[in-house]
Amino acid sequence: MSAQNPRPAPEPAPASPATPWSATVRRGADGVLAVGGLPVTALAERYGTPLYVLDEADLRARARAFADAFGEAFADLGGGADVYYAGKAFLSVAVARWVHAEGLRIDTTTGGELAVALRAGVPGEAIGLHGNNKSDAEIERALRAGVGRIVLDSLAEVEQVAAVAARLGVRAPVMVRVTTGVHAGGHEFISTAHEDQKFGLSLAGGAARAALDAVAGRPELDLLGIHSHIGSQILDLAGFEVAARALLALRAEIAEQTGRLMPEVDLGGGYGISYTGDVAPPTPHEVAHALADVVRRACADLGTPPPRISVEPGRAVVGPAGLTLYRVGTVKPVRLDDGAQRRYVSVDGGMSDNIRTALYDAEYTAALADRRSTAPLVPARVVGKHCESGDVVVRDVALPDDVARGDLLAVPATGAYGRSMASNYNLVPRPGVVAVADGQARVLVRRETEEDLLALDEG
Ligand code: LLP
Repeated sequence: MSAQNPRPAPEPAPASPATPWSATVRRGADGVLAVGGLPVTALAERYGTPLYVLDEADLRARARAFADAFGEAFADLGGGADVYYAGKAFLSVAVARWVHAEGLRIDTTTGGELAVALRAGVPGEAIGLHGNNKSDAEIERALRAGVGRIVLDSLAEVEQVAAVAARLGVRAPVMVRVTTGVHAGGHEFISTAHEDQKFGLSLAGGAARAALDAVAGRPELDLLGIHSHIGSQILDLAGFEVAARALLALRAEIAEQTGRLMPEVDLGGGYGISYTGDVAPPTPHEVAHALADVVRRACADLGTPPPRISVEPGRAVVGPAGLTLYRVGTVKPVRLDDGAQRRYVSVDGGMSDNIRTALYDAEYTAALADRRSTAPLVPARVVGKHCESGDVVVRDVALPDDVARGDLLAVPATGAYGRSMASNYNLVPRPGVVAVADGQARVLVRRETEEDLLALDEG
């Protein structure tokens, strides 16, 4: 998308596979966007802005679609499949309950995420614990809750988890996180990337094998299998084939040498979504069938029975279900070096509620949400209210020439890694999260107040 000639947000079109809007978003005859049957004007009035709005029906349908697609695609593959929702994308008690009710398990990365999943009543066996630097307290809490798996991320952690398990007198179900050299994101993947990163244990360097051998030597640990996560916002599924083949070959090799075939393989998450309407991301059905095909072929080639497969989508479940509502404040025309003009449209949030644009150069789009305009479109940039020039929410978008203070803007596809990565920069209270379904709104996470911020300040 060109900076001089940016595109406007697509209009909501539920049937379009590339739409960035959640399934129930419509623009009414009065020009006002509605989510789950509720006009955004009513939401803004009742709950204030900025506001994260979650489309419950959309979120649940995506969770269900993943559960059904993997159930179906792996039905004839011996081991079957489990889908874990990666809670890092966004976790609250209600969301944990919904996705679990729709057939997903929950992947947590910290004590905080674990606490929310447990508060939601998700049974321990349906929870996994990740993390590259787990504390003893986190491991203990996970084991006491009877989690289904702890994913080991270092050699030292083999000893650490075994020691906590021994102290508690339990056996810890574990997987070993392996780096296969595949790194993917966006449209491409690299299969011989450096493994110069903090996660996992290298397959090529032998660290993965050393950890697996160490686990086998600890009676407190029950080795379920191996895990790999290759990246995020992946649109090209080819990287998964390379990673899956590497994991399945390692599993077959170990079986040959030790006589023990690990029962599970986790292929991680990372399925991409549409942020601006430019791409039609793979559907859960396509993802599940592509992975089932890879596992079927690889296991046939290796002559090993297929393992139980698990995956961990986060963004693809919650991302498209959320939008952020902002109120427009200052609007400033800025002349660019080439003489063109860009409209800087400031909103009442910014990098504190969506750090992704600043951090990853992520692309978003934005639409006028409380009226229709017939004014010509102008190049615009949606910026926040923070004291930093990189405080950009939408780098390039076409907005109507008459966009003005008081208008409502909606930024779609903010359900993942928006609220979960929010900060209090400039002591801006974090927005609340409201879920909408069938014309009813419900607060899932209340908006922070200045009193909340002051309450932490001991003076
Ligand atoms: N499993 C593991 C082990 C992961 O590390 C991640 C993401 C996921 C699953 C879920 O990935 P997803 O399906 O949501 O892409 N803050 C970044 C994303 C970081 C993802 C880190 N790990 C962003 O906003 O794009």
